[in-house]
Amino acid sequence: MPEPMGEYAFLRRNDEVSVERLSVQGRMPEWLQGTLLRNGPGQMTVGEQRFRHWFDGFAMLHKFSFAAGRVSYAGKFLDTKARASAEAEGRITYTDFATDPCRSLFARAMAMFNHRVTDNAKVSIGHFAERFLAMTETAIQVEFDPETLDTVGVFQYEDDPVGQMTTAHPHYADGYMYNVVTRFGRASEVRTYRVDQRMRRERLGAFGAATPSYMHSFGMTPNHLIVTEFPLVVNPLALLFWLKPFIENFAWEPRRGTPFTVLDRHTGAVAARFEAEAFFAFHHVNAFERGRELIVDIVAYPDADIVTHYYLERLTAADLRLPHGRLTRFTVPLSGGRVRAEPLADACIELPHIDYAGHNMDPEQRYTYGIGLHSERPHEFYNQLVKIDTRTGTTATWHEPDCFPGEPIFVSAPDRRGEDDGVLLSVVLDAAGARSFLLVLDAHDLQERARAVLPQAVMIGFHGAFVGAPDAS
Ligand SMILES: [Fe+2]
Repeated sequence: MPEPMGEYAFLRRNDEVSVERLSVQGRMPEWLQGTLLRNGPGQMTVGEQRFRHWFDGFAMLHKFSFAAGRVSYAGKFLDTKARASAEAEGRITYTDFATDPCRSLFARAMAMFNHRVTDNAKVSIGHFAERFLAMTETAIQVEFDPETLDTVGVFQYEDDPVGQMTTAHPHYADGYMYNVVTRFGRASEVRTYRVDQRMRRERLGAFGAATPSYMHSFGMTPNHLIVTEFPLVVNPLALLFWLKPFIENFAWEPRRGTPFTVLDRHTGAVAARFEAEAFFAFHHVNAFERGRELIVDIVAYPDADIVTHYYLERLTAADLRLPHGRLTRFTVPLSGGRVRAEPLADACIELPHIDYAGHNMDPEQRYTYGIGLHSERPHEFYNQLVKIDTRTGTTATWHEPDCFPGEPIFVSAPDRRGEDDGVLLSVVLDAAGARSFLLVLDAHDLQERARAVLPQAVMIGFHGAFVGAPDAS
């Protein structure tokens, strides 16, 4: 990893700033109207303490508004108990993904009875039923105002929490928001549920899991939910005593393989369970049905080493060599048999994104976008944008020296002529320039259309969402 990146990518706390009009190079498409919202860490240090992992930092929201070729920007921290308490006490006080507060043995014992679940929702943005939610892997979702980025508060569903660990990647279809949640206990369960337009949560199916898996996402087709239990598993007792940071309670046990559990999306009934070779993933991409088969595209790794590579100590080391995630197509034979896996491309990819609104669950969906690694600079953090054509396995890329792009978000052109007729929006850290810029690429050939320069270097974030202006097509 290059020296210049270390500080700007993860360590330098971001400022809450607002800019009416960013300086634009190139030409913003006139038709691009709406708002890009992004979530990710904005602060990794509290006093002398530092969070340990990319997935730990305090949530910061970023907003880019587009109108008539102009772009405005604002960044604001999510107002959470976890951050307020840390700022007040000058130390980390809530446990997060891979960082625990310093605790005496007595305090650790007390934590068994009085465990404080963090509300630091720094992973993704949910937009559902006119609400905007900052989401993470604890079952706490924080509502915010998309205009001001002010925090409204933890969204309270009417029912009790359905579990402690969920995914930051719900699926949306037919007016519902679907998700999977794990309930740890003496008899742990993986539960599925859906939320309706009145924000009422309805439980769907569930199945037992003696040693639950770490799951960051799941698959959905028109008729099925697909839960992949990677063999990165935890004994729920370990979480009860919580002697280590959350993720360090999980162990890689590849002999378990990676079972795929298929549930009926409408009734929740468990349809069947299928065996597959051991692999690990954060992200499911598209999934669809083809006759009596389910096709599930996943960014897969042979093991879970990627989790430990995201510790800041590793990310800021000179000999960084990130494991490559590969877009892999898994075929689930509903009539019986093992799950088959077939790589769709050689390229390294993470933070995968498709035209979800237009092509999720669509067998014709063809293009997957993401961040990746340039073959000539494999010792860096993700340093290019990649587009994979899943039919041909070919890729297009965008890269520049010392530039580290975030998740690309596809925005469709009005009256488009094809799946990739639109632009990709990505916040890129320009480490040499000590600032970030919002990059606008033609989604067809990944050629630059425009960039808007930010007043600061934005910490490398996770996921975002584009919300079209009401009057935009
Ligand atoms: Fe994610």
